[in-house]
Amino acid sequence: MAYSKKVIEHYENPRNVGTLDKDAGDVGTGMVGAPACGDVMRLQIKVGADGIIEDARFKTYGCGSAIASSSLVTEWVKGKTLDEAMTIRNSQIAEELELPPVKIHCSVLAEDAIKAAVEDYRSKHGQGAQHAADSA
Ligand code: FES
Ligand code: FES
Repeated sequence: MAYSKKVIEHYENPRNVGTLDKDAGDVGTGMVGAPACGDVMRLQIKVGADGIIEDARFKTYGCGSAIASSSLVTEWVKGKTLDEAMTIRNSQIAEELELPPVKIHCSVLAEDAIKAAVEDYRSKHGQGAQHAADSA
């Protein structure tokens, strides 16, 4: 398996590895698994009072592409709103990391993980409906 330079760079020097307190009110946690290979990714976001993602952490049990995808996504979500984070597509991740077709599911895992983290945060804040933020 030939990994791209960008995958290797993230794999050797992953950004934002670690854990945030999943019970904290300002943290959203997304945990997803890839049925294709049994890999697991946990991605967490910390959201500021202004609704901007201030910080992100990940832990991934998986291949180099899965680790690189989660590392990249933790960089991308910082400074974004929740709505903006929800627009990140696995195709953008795959393109940035030059993933070959058999590794596309690794980037899907990262897209699903960030969505799950945003949804977890929103469920904690009673924002199941996307624009119900005002009365909180
Ligand atoms: Fe699961 Fe890649 S097949 S680590
Ligand atoms: Fe399964 Fe990468 S997450 S091969």
